[in-house]
Amino acid sequence: MDKSAVKLAPSILAADFARLGEQVAEAERCGADRIHVDVMDGHFVPNISFGAVIIQSLRPATRLPLESHLMISNPDFFLEQFIEAGADSVLVHWEGNNNLHRTLHRIKALGKRAGLVINPATPAAVLEEILQDVEQVLVMTVNPGFGQQHFLNTTLPKIRRVRQMIEQINPGCDLEVDGGIDAATAPLVVASGANVLVAGSAVFGESEGVAAAIGRLRTAVDGLSHLTTNNSEERTLQ
Ligand code: DX5
Ligand code: ZN
Repeated sequence: MDKSAVKLAPSILAADFARLGEQVAEAERCGADRIHVDVMDGHFVPNISFGAVIIQSLRPATRLPLESHLMISNPDFFLEQFIEAGADSVLVHWEGNNNLHRTLHRIKALGKRAGLVINPATPAAVLEEILQDVEQVLVMTVNPGFGQQHFLNTTLPKIRRVRQMIEQINPGCDLEVDGGIDAATAPLVVASGANVLVAGSAVFGESEGVAAAIGRLRTAVDGLSHLTTNNSEERTLQ
């Protein structure tokens, strides 16, 4: 099984901001597939991080796609700003958005990949009528707002359910997971159907450095792929 079927998206939230360009370049050299940029406004989540200027600074520093995870109220006000700064995909939350279809189609009309994020308490069922309109679903495996939280095991059945829905409705759609992903939890989410893993502290927070950290994550999912469970009994029983 091709291990590259599982993509790694290091989250810069856990990076050393004084060496951000260097750390992102190192992640690229070590085989990261995209860079995940967590944007928090202190309203939608109880924490503040950074805005589009970070994307603008990183754009010339890497050839990897930059995905912006918008944990902000009223994302519609900021879509152009993030896209002009160089974001390749924009991920918006289902929660708190009364005009989700419009938001996602504006992202697509601006020529970028549209992603939809659901929090741990939000059921997979909310995706049913909108899944055909997105390139990516992000299932939060912690409550958004902070890095270094414990992975919520209760999200695993939901990941399996979302994978089933994707296979039925939009097979090309990525299924990404975010929060508490490390070498122990990565195999669980991949076996449940995830094909893109966000990891912050498990990439940039490891004392032995980014290369060793990415190597450990790759080893953990080596030989696994969400595709391996496509026809399994486990999959059909979920
Ligand atoms: C949480 C963010 C995550 C966070 C993950 O709100 O969306 O992307 O950076 O951090 P770790 O990998 O440390 O859980
Ligand atoms: Zn994130």
